[in-house]
Amino acid sequence: MTDPGLFEIIHSTRAMRRLKPDPVPREAIERILRAGQAAPSGGNAQNWGFIVVESPDIKRQVQHYYQRAYDEGVGRHYAERLGAMPAGEARDKLARQVAAVSHLTERFHEAPVWIVACLDVGPKGGMPGSGASIYPAVQNMLLAARALGLGATLTMRHMMFGAEVDAIFGLPEGIRSFAILPIGYPEGRFGPVQRGPLSEVTHHDRWGNSYF
Ligand SMILES: Cc1cc2nc3c(=O)[nH]c(=O)nc-3n(C[C@H](O)[C@H](O)[C@H](O)COP(=O)(O)O)c2cc1C
Repeated sequence: MTDPGLFEIIHSTRAMRRLKPDPVPREAIERILRAGQAAPSGGNAQNWGFIVVESPDIKRQVQHYYQRAYDEGVGRHYAERLGAMPAGEARDKLARQVAAVSHLTERFHEAPVWIVACLDVGPKGGMPGSGASIYPAVQNMLLAARALGLGATLTMRHMMFGAEVDAIFGLPEGIRSFAILPIGYPEGRFGPVQRGPLSEVTHHDRWGNSYF
């Protein structure tokens, strides 16, 4: 496989929620972790920790909460939105997204490997926004996985049951999990990401002045 360029990687790193059960080589996981560790953190504190989860038992226990968070939260929200939408392209698009989200939720534990991105925020939970130090590492790992032909998704829903899930991972006090990345070879293809017009979200000097 030829190495795609950086911009091709960026524009095709989508949430890949349908994964094959095939094992992921250890070397690939190491490269993904090294990409994560290359990210910046506030004050270069590098106060992160990454758990590579392969244990079916641990994944199953966490999936229980991930599923519960879906049933009690976003799943209901999706059902309400779909129920209120008229038939058409927009509804079909949302329905496809809901199907993919629901698929991953039910099979969360079947992804061959997870990387759990954790951060030491201290016993008081850190300052507002201190969790932000982990997300550059998370995005680097998503890009690295994509570059290696692996699918992954940034998931945070487990945080609805953060204390319970962090106990399953055996996290010490002050360390919290901020993202779970289920990783595996994708069933589908890496298509281009779909985003709105750049001109609608870009301003010039002051909010409201168009740049494009
Ligand atoms: C902060 C954040 C939290 C997210 N949490 C979840 C999650 O818990 N489960 C999930 O399936 N996707 C989750 N996602 C993925 C987004 O739904 C997805 O990236 C978005 O719909 C855009 O789709 P795309 O990446 O395929 O273009 C999360 C993304 C972000 C940035």
